[in-house]
Amino acid sequence: MMPLPSTTTLLVSGGDSRITPDPITGLNKYGCSTEPDTTLAALGSSTASVISERGMAAANALREKCAALLMHATPDTVYEQQLSALRSELLSLCGINEGAHVDALFAASGTDIHLLVGQWLQPDLTLMIDPAETGSGLAAALTGKHFSTDSTCTGGVPTTAHLGQWQGALNTFAARDRQGHPLDAHHIETSLTTAVESAAKENKRLLLVLTDVCKTGLLFPGISVIQRLRDQWPEQIHVLVDACQFRLSPQTIRAYLAQGFCVALTGSKFLGGPTFSGALLIPQAFSLACEGRMLDHAVGAYSYANEWPSGYSATRHLQRGANFGLLLRWEAAMAELRLFSALEEAQLQPFLHRFKEAVDTYLEQNSHFEAVPNPPLDRRSLGCPPAWDNEQTIFPFIVYQCLENGIRRPLARKASLLVYQQLQHPPTSRPKQRRFQLGQPVLCGEREGMPVSALRLCISAPMLIDAQDPVIAEKMINDALAALDCIAEIADSFRD
Ligand SMILES: Cc1ncc(COP(=O)(O)O)c(C=O)c1O
Repeated sequence: MMPLPSTTTLLVSGGDSRITPDPITGLNKYGCSTEPDTTLAALGSSTASVISERGMAAANALREKCAALLMHATPDTVYEQQLSALRSELLSLCGINEGAHVDALFAASGTDIHLLVGQWLQPDLTLMIDPAETGSGLAAALTGKHFSTDSTCTGGVPTTAHLGQWQGALNTFAARDRQGHPLDAHHIETSLTTAVESAAKENKRLLLVLTDVCKTGLLFPGISVIQRLRDQWPEQIHVLVDACQFRLSPQTIRAYLAQGFCVALTGSKFLGGPTFSGALLIPQAFSLACEGRMLDHAVGAYSYANEWPSGYSATRHLQRGANFGLLLRWEAAMAELRLFSALEEAQLQPFLHRFKEAVDTYLEQNSHFEAVPNPPLDRRSLGCPPAWDNEQTIFPFIVYQCLENGIRRPLARKASLLVYQQLQHPPTSRPKQRRFQLGQPVLCGEREGMPVSALRLCISAPMLIDAQDPVIAEKMINDALAALDCIAEIADSFRD
């Protein structure tokens, strides 16, 4: 019988070094602790969140269940059974029934999911959004490389940059101009079409990544252009929807799957589960496109065979195993998804609108800030009715320092990072400061000839669940505005 470590130990195991707590602070690189942190205002779900009390209770309960099952079964078997239950529930909460022929596989993070898609499909060329707008490891993961020197999650340290035989090329496309404003849709369509046409004419197999949504909340490059290109070269073009933010309604997810697009999700962004957890929803059309391809032995550093749905010959060279850390992280996320899925549209819209109005107004009126514009999300070509996922849930903005003479100066990237860090960990000079977690700063154009970063306030599923209590809803909006006040104060405290 295998003794199961504590829930907190498991929660930080079975992933890459991004989830490892610092031995001194006990926090991971995003400032997340392994226990619920009720004094932190969690407004950073576009990057990572601290586990909630609900999530912790669910993870504890599943750990106990697994410990009991392990008295009579091997870890691989218990893991596989519990993951299979999780798979059924995730598909069911997305409104996907058995007749839809959609499967799901699990991996340690959204980046791991991208790595597995690359290794499985082995495209000659992948086209995706500017890497600054998505996970920092995606470019490596999608081209067959380890995404960091300690990115494996099932053990072993990579000794080479590439993890297996396959190496793919990558073409990336800017989503914003030098001001950080979204590029015109026509411009994006033209540059993507040119790149696809020339590769398709050379008979290349292409993976197009449709990012819905990116770190700053854009849908890129537009659904109709992807549909048009796929319809033109249906044998050569395959589509991965990077929905790792999981800011999508079940209708939208099903509509993507019905197109034959596979959909990457995580439990650790909008859902507010602990860092990190990933899943891939696989429609039959996509698995058929990969038919006959075996995953390289080396992929075993990122994936166990029993994390895949049964009957996939691609996993023949992978070992079976157990990653109870991943299972518990997903279970914590599912605790949020269960409650969130039970909410009606009419229960979501009021908070989404009030939060947006309050934040937009504040950013507009305070000269310490400049909102980064996001056009409305256009998913009309999927043909499903508009839902809550059409609303903005990520609010990026650039921070300025206001000087006594009325002049304002944009913060350099280093200073924005410092603001982000001091919001979570106030310096001793501000002992009474409240603690806020925002999305990590993202490179977002230039001001005065200098690259600048956007900080991000985010709405998460746990916030929408808690907002059903009007008093808590009000408090969360006030927290977001208090975070902005605090940012202005920190920015002004920097003197050269
Ligand atoms: C759009 C998008 N895709 C993928 C990722 C990578 O996911 P993960 O952080 O789980 O590796 C991120 C991370 O921020 C993201 O924003």
